[in-house]
Amino acid sequence: MNHIIFQLVAVATLLACAVPASATAKKVIFDTDPGTDDALALMLALNSPELDVRAITVVPGNVTASQGLENALRMVSLANRCDIPVAAGAQHPLFQKLITAEFWHGKNGLANVELPASKCKVDSHFGPDLIIQMVHAAPHEITLVPVGPLTNIALAVLKDPSIVPLVKEVILMGGSIAGGNVNAAAEANIYNDPEAAQIVFQAGWPLTMVGLDVGDKTLFSRKYLAQLGQTHGPVNDFIYAVGKYLVDLSAQFGSLGSPMYDPLAVGVAVDATLVKAPEMHVDVETRGEFTRGETVANRHGMVERNVLHGNHYVIEALDKVAPNAKVCVDVEADRFLQLFVSRIKGK
Ligand code: RIB
Ligand code: CA
Repeated sequence: MNHIIFQLVAVATLLACAVPASATAKKVIFDTDPGTDDALALMLALNSPELDVRAITVVPGNVTASQGLENALRMVSLANRCDIPVAAGAQHPLFQKLITAEFWHGKNGLANVELPASKCKVDSHFGPDLIIQMVHAAPHEITLVPVGPLTNIALAVLKDPSIVPLVKEVILMGGSIAGGNVNAAAEANIYNDPEAAQIVFQAGWPLTMVGLDVGDKTLFSRKYLAQLGQTHGPVNDFIYAVGKYLVDLSAQFGSLGSPMYDPLAVGVAVDATLVKAPEMHVDVETRGEFTRGETVANRHGMVERNVLHGNHYVIEALDKVAPNAKVCVDVEADRFLQLFVSRIKGK
């Protein structure tokens, strides 16, 4: 009898070992406005065994929708991943004009690095439709990683709200609880489509906000650039060129390194222990004269209840507000940067 049990255990062990890495990896849809830091993030995702990038959807932001699509197709071609569907999405924010950021990302959005023409073909789906289709095809398995304005994600929710309970998690780059980067209040991804962001933050799914609060503590400096300069490969050399552009640009503004905004969102998908992320209720301001696009986080989870008494209000209670996001407030920056370099070196 023991002999039979031993054989059963051996077979079960072999089957477990025989499971291909991708079958255990986290299934991810990457929504992006490529974008220099988007490029670093995508190459990290494609070279992390913990992740299985199932689709890339493109959103206008750093560059126009058409430039972003071209950039995404060239990058998956560089990485020899034409198997990953790349789909165009929204062509503009929900209610405002697009604001592009060639000022920061270079004329073509990829640090003016000219990649070879893509060997890959664009997927025929509209990005939000592809998200809907893939979430229904793999319920409770898909993690959405948006690292641009949230237009595509909002359109997917508006078109089919039933995807919300079927999405495993949303890990987004965006927002800040201590001031903006485009102005005093707003971070770029939120600022470029505040209405879309409010839809995404209020949808009710598990959401992690990887904002400026941790990105600004995670600086890709010449130290890490030099490490990438010691090895070579098509992806390695591309990321080195983009990284050099970013480090040089940061130096022009007196900074020792370039914030790893988008790559850190992928980092959190790879290893959530990299960050400290308390739960908070977050709303997105869509009307403020000075604050449109601000992510307004309630750290204490309470709102004072004011009751009218004659000609004035009196505070009579504290009402709880349910958290809707894990907000990243601290990060093991060097551990993430070492992970990033280790995944890109020599690829
Ligand atoms: O504020 C930083 C964000 O805006 C990053 O996603 C960057 O790529 C830009 O889209
Ligand atoms: Ca981006």
